[in-house]
Amino acid sequence: LTPFTLLIQHAAQVLTLAGGPTTRPLAGADLGGWRIIENGYVACVAGTIAAVGPMSELDADRITAETQLLDATGRVLMPGLVECHTHLVFGGNRAHEFERKLRGESYLDILASGGGILSTVRATRAASEDELLENALHHLDGFRRYGVTTVEAKSGYGLDRDTELRLVRVARQAGRQQPVRVVPTFLGAHVVPPEFKPAGPQAYVDFILREVLSELKGEAAFVDIFCEEGAFPLDVSRYYLEQAHKMGFGLKIHAEQLHDLGGCEMAAALGATSVDHCDYLTPEAAARIAQQTQGQTVAVLLPLVPLFLRQAKYAPGRAFIDNGLPVAVSTDFNPGSCPSKNLWLALSVACLNMGLTPKEAVAAATLNAAWAIGLAADCGSLEPGKRADVLVLDLASVAEIPYWLGENPVRAVVIGGAVQ
Ligand code: NIG
Ligand code: FE
Repeated sequence: LTPFTLLIQHAAQVLTLAGGPTTRPLAGADLGGWRIIENGYVACVAGTIAAVGPMSELDADRITAETQLLDATGRVLMPGLVECHTHLVFGGNRAHEFERKLRGESYLDILASGGGILSTVRATRAASEDELLENALHHLDGFRRYGVTTVEAKSGYGLDRDTELRLVRVARQAGRQQPVRVVPTFLGAHVVPPEFKPAGPQAYVDFILREVLSELKGEAAFVDIFCEEGAFPLDVSRYYLEQAHKMGFGLKIHAEQLHDLGGCEMAAALGATSVDHCDYLTPEAAARIAQQTQGQTVAVLLPLVPLFLRQAKYAPGRAFIDNGLPVAVSTDFNPGSCPSKNLWLALSVACLNMGLTPKEAVAAATLNAAWAIGLAADCGSLEPGKRADVLVLDLASVAEIPYWLGENPVRAVVIGGAVQ
C-alpha cells in the first residue's frame, strides 16, 4: 500500500459526514445519527484522502520518514467548508449605502434609485482585470482562514458581454493562483443594465443567450438568474433557464428572497441543482419541490442576508427539512446584502433564526453544499477517494459547532493534502 504523505492524528473527535446516501443530498432522517470517531486520524496520499478511522486501527506500515505528521490532540477534525453561493468578484464596495439602509431605505428602493447592485456594476466596469483579480484573491484568502476550501463564485456585476466574460475569467484565474477551489457560475441575468432599461428584461436575456452564453461552455458550470421584483419576472426567468439548460448548463436561481413569485418551484421543475435564498418560499411549496425532484434539488439558505437587510423574515429551514427538502447554508458573500465571509456565523444564525439543528447546519455547509454545486463526489465529507480538504478545529467536541457565535474555530486548514 502507498505510504501516507500526510497524517493528522490523535484528534479528540473526527466528524466524517460519511456513511449517508451517495445518490442525493442529506435530508430528514439522514441527519439523525452520524458517526463521530473518538481519538481518530485522517491520512492522505498526495491530494486525496486515503484512510479515516480510530487511532487503534491506524496502519503503521504506511507511515514512513516522508510522512508529514500533524498533531490534533484535543481537537476536532472535519471536512473543509464548502461555500456554495458567493458573488466573489466585484469592484469597490457599498459602505456608502450602509447608512442609507440604517436610516430605513429598503434594498429594492436603493436599487430602484440606481444604487445597490447598479452601483457595484459601475465600480466593476471601471475596475481593471488586475484589480478585480487582486480583490478576488484577497477575499479567497479570507475564506481560507475561515476553513472554506471550495467557493462558488458568480459573475453578475458586469451586465455587458466583455465585463461578464472578464468576471468569469477572473474567478477561474483566482482559483488557479491559490489553493481554494473556485467554481464559477454565470449570473449575467442579475438585473437589467441601464442600457437595456428601455428594451426590457426579455430583450436583455435574449442578448445574453445570443452573445454571451455561447462563450462560456466549459468555463462556467452553472447559469443563475435573479427572479424578483425589480430584477427578472417569472416568465422571463423560466424562458432563460430553459434555454440555458438546452445549452448544457446546470441551473440555479435567486428566488423568493423578497417576494413569493414562484421562482424556486419553476427552477426546480426544470431540474435546477439549487434554489437559493428561499426566505419567502412556503413549506408547502418546499414539500412539492422535494417530491417533484426526489430530493435532488438543494435549497441554499443565506441567513446573513435577512440579518444584514434588516428583514424579519427568514427561510423556514426547519419546515423545509421536515418536508424532505435538503438544505445547504452559505454566506452569499457580496458587497450589498452580505459583506461577510464568516460561514460559521451563518451556521449559527441558521440555527437561531431558521430552526436548523447544529448537525443539520454542519451538513448544510459541507456535504449538502457540495451537492449544491455538483461536487459531492469530490468534497464535503472525509472519505477515502475525496480531495483531502480537512479542518483542524480548536474545539474539544463537535457539540461546540456552531455554538461560539461569530468566532472562527479553525486552527489549521488542509487543502488537497497540503497544510496551508
Ligand atoms: O444574492 N439578490 C440578489 N443578488 C445578491 C446581492 C447582490 C448585491 O446586492 O450586490 C444576493 O443577495
Ligand atoms: Fe446571491
